[in-house]
Amino acid sequence: MALEKAKIVTITSVKGGTGKTTTLLNLAGILSTQKKKVLILDLDLYAGAIAPFLNIANDPDIYSLVDDIGSNRFEKIDSYLVKYNDYIDVIPAPKDPRNASKINSKYISVVLSKIIYRYDFILIDTNHFLNPITLVALDASDQILYIINNDPLDLKNMATRVSIHKDMEQENYQIILNESITGRDYFSKVDIKNIIKNNIDFIIPKSFHTKNIDKYILDGKIPILNNKHKKTISTFKNMIALLEKR
Ligand SMILES: Nc1ncnc2c1ncn2[C@@H]1O[C@H](COP(=O)(O)OP(=O)(O)O)[C@@H](O)[C@H]1O
Ligand SMILES: [Mg+2]
Repeated sequence: MALEKAKIVTITSVKGGTGKTTTLLNLAGILSTQKKKVLILDLDLYAGAIAPFLNIANDPDIYSLVDDIGSNRFEKIDSYLVKYNDYIDVIPAPKDPRNASKINSKYISVVLSKIIYRYDFILIDTNHFLNPITLVALDASDQILYIINNDPLDLKNMATRVSIHKDMEQENYQIILNESITGRDYFSKVDIKNIIKNNIDFIIPKSFHTKNIDKYILDGKIPILNNKHKKTISTFKNMIALLEKR
């Protein structure tokens, strides 16, 4: 059990499919090699991908947890944590997506309070909608990681999000340009910085594109622990060093 409060890190984006879930799992993988205890909370409630990706059960899930808390059936958190390995536990998104809309955002902070002293890191996966659930996660986070792609719509929406953070004088966000999903390559780094009006804090390099990534998913394996791409590992280690400071 960690003696200090876990660092809460939310991984989000302003467009779908930018590589949030993959990045979160790789981050968890590197943290586990550093013997850090990690809880992954899957708040991509309608299309949770963590449990299927890791080949673990999604029963119990966040819905059963929240439902039990709301109806005073909750006893202890242990029975709601799904173990992936010695370092990584998961609270999966609802097994039945019809339960997603029944989860009231007010319970998310209650859930966080029950796990905050048990882990070194709580990594929260989200979808790209700024819904009440994601908002609660962002408010509770020590750091927010935005995963962006080299794509005009994504960058323009990111500029809007950056301006919101600046208006609110929030500085606890990092912008990660994910180049490992191939396809678009419109803008230079300077262009990107000019469009989003912010620095790019980290880059997941193109050379980390993993052709057989679907095989890892089918086998429940964390990509970075199998495709041990040096440059990407070093990016993640730098990211972790920064997260630990805040
Ligand atoms: N390094 C990579 N190499 C190849 N494909 C990748 C890589 N990272 C992500 N992908 C693929 O890109 C797609 C979107 O990634 P995902 O992590 O699910 O994004 P999001 O969670 O933002 O929707 C998935 O099909 C995933 O397998
Ligand atoms: Mg995802």
